[in-house]
Amino acid sequence: MPLSSKPLLTSEQIADLVDRLAQAINAQFAAQELLILVVLKGALHFASDLIRRLDVALEIDFIRVKSYVGSESQGNVEVLLWPTTPLTGKRVLIVEDLIDTGYTTSFILDRVRQGNPESVSIAVLLDKASRRIENVTLDHCGLEIEDHFVVGYGMDYNEKYRELPDVYILEDEGA
Ligand code: IMP
Ligand code: MG
Repeated sequence: MPLSSKPLLTSEQIADLVDRLAQAINAQFAAQELLILVVLKGALHFASDLIRRLDVALEIDFIRVKSYVGSESQGNVEVLLWPTTPLTGKRVLIVEDLIDTGYTTSFILDRVRQGNPESVSIAVLLDKASRRIENVTLDHCGLEIEDHFVVGYGMDYNEKYRELPDVYILEDEGA
């Protein structure tokens, strides 16, 4: 399937979104320690850029779940990697690339809360709010986008396009 001829978001636009999110997160967690949980693989670029803009003492760990086949969301979520860092008493920030139906994030939230953290917040780069099925509160959201399948800046279609510095729309064949 072809990519949009122009990016939906250029790397400069993404950098502005990440700057703004970092400022808000710095303000929320000023002088507190934070455990960042990066949701792999899609949030790799976002988390890496975001973390370098935070002036908060932090730990980093990773979550990997499988909830997607092709471009259709599945309601079921399988855990492939779970943090070994103890969550008890921690201020946790879950970092996600994109929230679509909300199934993945609400599953992760429930599981993280079982570890008895002091608090759990969510930072997401892109939000397809119109697609939401499971309600989730996003503490820090970069940008709400329309119902397009997007790739680049870590986000993939069947493992392709993650390396692109800009975000593109994946266009339907024949469209
Ligand atoms: P949800 O469970 O439907 O909210 O799906 C969220 C997960 O699916 C995210 O972690 C994304 O990695 C992936 N996803 C959803 N929409 C897109 C998209 O447009 N491009 C790439 N990945 C997507
Ligand atoms: Mg993802």
